[in-house]
Amino acid sequence: MTAQFPVVRSRRLRRTPALRRLVAETRLHPSDLVLPLFVKEGITEPQPIASMPGVLQHTRDSLRKAAHEAVEAGVGGLILFGIPAVKDGRGSAADDPAGIVQKALRDLSADLGDSTVLIADLCLDEYTDHGHCGILTNDGEVDNDATLERYASIAVAQAAAGVDVVAPSGMMDGQVAAIRTALDEAGYGNVAIMAYAVKYASAFYGPFRDAAECAPQFGDRSAYQQDPSNAEESMREALLDLDEGADFVMVKPALTYLDIVRRVRDTVHVPVAAYQVSGEYAMVEAAAAQGWIDRERIIMETLTSVRRAGADIVLTYWATEVARSLRD
Ligand code: PBG
Repeated sequence: MTAQFPVVRSRRLRRTPALRRLVAETRLHPSDLVLPLFVKEGITEPQPIASMPGVLQHTRDSLRKAAHEAVEAGVGGLILFGIPAVKDGRGSAADDPAGIVQKALRDLSADLGDSTVLIADLCLDEYTDHGHCGILTNDGEVDNDATLERYASIAVAQAAAGVDVVAPSGMMDGQVAAIRTALDEAGYGNVAIMAYAVKYASAFYGPFRDAAECAPQFGDRSAYQQDPSNAEESMREALLDLDEGADFVMVKPALTYLDIVRRVRDTVHVPVAAYQVSGEYAMVEAAAAQGWIDRERIIMETLTSVRRAGADIVLTYWATEVARSLRD
């Protein structure tokens, strides 16, 4: 009896690095990455963030340097988060022309011009003393429609300061429409909207709340962010935001929602972004610090997976490092 050889051998195309490179379906590129940056008012030295080793709360100066390095490495865009010196019930610093993000946007647009895409997170939680993403009613609920007026005003302040893209992350109903109208009325028709269309109420945002000093002082965000049990409503959220004028849609977090990234990618016809959030970052850094995982390989594997699931753009705290290693 003649030996039976497998006719089909999948291993043939896995044999050498060159073969694997030739047949790779998904490639990471620096320009698909967006770096989130924190800038804090009233500090003279950058501050480390305990739960996000390697990430800093920047001063205006150190922010400029970090932004420069990211652009130099080829990163596709920057997204700014501000931490004001003073917080109040309505988040007054968020739309103050002299607020920290507006100042930082002016700095970066003067420094970097059109060499990068300047994005600003558009929300109230970093600016309110209660830590919720909107204005509260007397009963302590987030008042959707009163909050929309605040978001509209923040969008105009960010646009006046030179933002290219605003990224509303508060999950209020109608927020994209309110922002689009306000921008257009104020003459900022060219400012684009990257909607956090699909945003789950996730424990993976834990370290971010240290970074942005915005943990809710009571309750949580489950009354406005999505339930991790659900997938269908994510398609509805994405389609609604497009109807309201969103130019991009974002899914957040990334790794635990790759099914949603894929479904959104198959549903819409605009660029899809996914946010590899603070908890995803912290888990990898913590395990790597223990020597339990291969940090660089895990970073590449997670980013490749998010791209393979269908994200065109990935927001990641590792953007500069990864961009550099892709170029080497
Ligand atoms: C809200 C906002 C949050 C994040 C981005 N924008 C926090 C939240 O919704 O609680 C989380 C980002 C991260 O965890 O890395 N302004």
